[in-house]
Amino acid sequence: MFATYSALLALAFAHISAVGGTQVSSFAGATSTFLFPPAGKTITVSDPLFPDANQVGFAGPTPTGDEAAAIVTAPAVAQVDTFFPLINPGTSGKPSTAFDVVHHFGNLAPWRSVKSLGLPDASALVPSGCQLDQVHLLHRHGARYPTTGAPPSAFATLLHALASTTGVNVTGPLTFLSTWEYKLGAENLTPFGRSQLFDLGVGFRVKYGDLLKGFSDLPVFRTTSEGRMVDSALHFSAGFFGVQTYQQDYHQLIEIEALGFNSTLAPYDVCPNANNNISTFGTAQGLKWAAVYLAAAQTRLAPYSTGLPLSPSVLVAMQQLCAYETVALGYSMFCDLFTEDEWIDLVFWYSFGPGNPAVSAQGIGYVQELVSRLTSTRITTANTTVNETIVSSNVTFPFGQPIYVDATHDVVISAIVTAMNFTSLAANGPLPTDHIPPNHSYIVNNIAPFASNLVGQVLSCPATSASASSTHIRWILNDAVIPLTGIRGCKANSNGLCPLTTFIDGMKQRIQEVDFMFDCFANYTIPNPDNITTGQFPK
Ligand SMILES: *[C@@H]1O[C@H](CO)[C@@H](O)[C@H](O)[C@H]1NC(C)=O
Ligand SMILES: *[C@@H]1O[C@H](CO)[C@@H](O)[C@H](O)[C@H]1NC(C)=O
Ligand SMILES: *[C@@H]1O[C@H](CO)[C@@H](O)[C@H](O)[C@H]1NC(C)=O
Ligand SMILES: *[C@@H]1O[C@H](CO)[C@@H](O)[C@H](O)[C@H]1NC(C)=O
Ligand SMILES: *[C@@H]1O[C@H](CO)[C@@H](O)[C@H](O)[C@H]1NC(C)=O
Ligand SMILES: *[C@@H]1O[C@H](CO)[C@@H](O)[C@H](O)[C@H]1NC(C)=O
Ligand SMILES: *[C@@H]1O[C@H](CO)[C@@H](O)[C@H](O)[C@H]1NC(C)=O
Ligand SMILES: *[C@@H]1O[C@H](CO)[C@@H](O)[C@H](O)[C@H]1NC(C)=O
Ligand SMILES: *[C@@H]1O[C@H](CO)[C@@H](O)[C@H](O)[C@H]1NC(C)=O
Ligand SMILES: *[C@@H]1O[C@H](CO)[C@@H](O)[C@H](O)[C@H]1NC(C)=O
Repeated sequence: MFATYSALLALAFAHISAVGGTQVSSFAGATSTFLFPPAGKTITVSDPLFPDANQVGFAGPTPTGDEAAAIVTAPAVAQVDTFFPLINPGTSGKPSTAFDVVHHFGNLAPWRSVKSLGLPDASALVPSGCQLDQVHLLHRHGARYPTTGAPPSAFATLLHALASTTGVNVTGPLTFLSTWEYKLGAENLTPFGRSQLFDLGVGFRVKYGDLLKGFSDLPVFRTTSEGRMVDSALHFSAGFFGVQTYQQDYHQLIEIEALGFNSTLAPYDVCPNANNNISTFGTAQGLKWAAVYLAAAQTRLAPYSTGLPLSPSVLVAMQQLCAYETVALGYSMFCDLFTEDEWIDLVFWYSFGPGNPAVSAQGIGYVQELVSRLTSTRITTANTTVNETIVSSNVTFPFGQPIYVDATHDVVISAIVTAMNFTSLAANGPLPTDHIPPNHSYIVNNIAPFASNLVGQVLSCPATSASASSTHIRWILNDAVIPLTGIRGCKANSNGLCPLTTFIDGMKQRIQEVDFMFDCFANYTIPNPDNITTGQFPK
């Protein structure tokens, strides 16, 4: 989505004047790109020399067997804890095992199973005695290249400009910069990002495939029109259904993602305060913190660089290069320059999380759709980010699906969990800009990593005949069960269960509490940020 961090580098440029130095390299920071397939080479559909599988025949036996239901039947939940084929780099002064930098990339980290979100005895396995009736999946796209205008490419431009004019002399741990090239694309999924969504689809079929037996029509899954969003949805479905049949097995609804178009999966496009200095509040807060936490790195690295000023914003760009190069190229020389990385959490809290007054307003449209699905009641007034054309049709927005799958973005998942009052994720309040608090409860690695997945399980407890209506719901974020005690009426429960009607009433109350028009459209300055913890302007 939009260039969250670009303001950081803009600051860096402001600090740079002509710095003296020896002309060592005019190569550093040069960009390189590559296009495949070779120019002019295209596939001819129905090429007699390369007939497709149907034309060739001889497929052999293809029985599929029964559906799996691992979330009900398996003794444990399979953990996602690797990120093949990425290399986890070592970090400065520490062996690779001491500090797991890949899982400190914040929203640029690959998702992994979260151990606990405050319910240590709960498991994503369906609680014994309950029956699984329905599942709602909201997932993020996979690992991508930097968004347009993000710091990494600007860093390359800066380095190249300095190297070819005033000169840059790098030594020691920075020596690699003298021959470093910028190889990243923009916006689109990386090859690893594609595998994340394929794997998510495979995992979802193994856990929840049995629910397909409840469909009397083809499923409708949703995504948005951006390249990486369509790519993510298709890779999920290829993993879920299989590449030979997925195009016949379901309908893919693609909502337009562009400024001015209503979509609950890209709500910032109809929320002006998501596109002005209210939404960039986190960047300003993050810069304060960067100046603190990067001071030591600045001192440590300064002796190895002449001609490249290592301002906090340049160092932040280098940290992002560590993350982006790793998920795109498999490894990065930038990672070993740093010891720790916590600032992204801060940017998220104040720009896309509970600390920003226009955030619940962006998540509330999905909450309206969720209530509509859970109650089989059509939305009649499109008064938030909901697209009336889509939700008013039982073709594009069907009720009663045993499985719902919606693809979205990091900042939308963080907005939706805020709008839903999952307050346990924010239990310890606003994040300070000058130190890491001892009980840091808002951890972006847990909420919005690449391929992050939020699952709602609709259950009957105790298990009853299929005709009885569901009794409970609970929510699972990246394999960890979320306590729902922030929602009015939901009592503490070791399995994270809330009675379904209580939960729906709570969501209806949230729809009343969140002032979409004011929070998204009004012209206000951000009041004392200590008073903003539910993503709403304090009233
Ligand atoms: C580069 O910097 C190192 C360390 O400061 C210094 O020893 C060396 O002479 C410099 N090289 C050039 C070409 O300026
Ligand atoms: C709603 O979605 C439909 C289908 O994608 C699209 O044609 C229409 O422009 C959207 N409406 C708004 C107001 O965004
Ligand atoms: C789009 O959203 C606005 C509110 O932001 C609403 O007034 C309008 O009716 C919606 N349009 C559609 C087609 O949903
Ligand atoms: C969908 O809506 C149409 C028109 O309102 C109706 O004729 C049809 O029966 C509905 N289909 C389902 C599956 O509800
Ligand atoms: C941190 O959390 C623990 C356990 O939840 C609690 O006992 C402790 O008081 C908290 N400390 C602070 C400073 O909030
Ligand atoms: C959401 O959380 C806020 C802050 O704790 C609370 O004031 C509000 O009543 C909650 N709303 C619902 C519907 O649970
Ligand atoms: C939108 O319409 C619904 C149904 O009429 C209503 O409950 C809700 O308060 C409205 N929300 C806004 C932001 O106007
Ligand atoms: C917002 O209000 C301020 C102060 O009243 C004013 O200077 C500014 O022009 C307004 N901005 C917009 C977009 O209306
Ligand atoms: C945003 O900019 C407007 C002027 O366009 C100003 O009035 C307002 O104070 C700024 N808000 C913040 C949070 O910086
Ligand atoms: C906002 O925060 C300030 C300072 O912490 C406090 O004095 C004030 O009462 C708070 N306002 C509200 C509405 O909570």
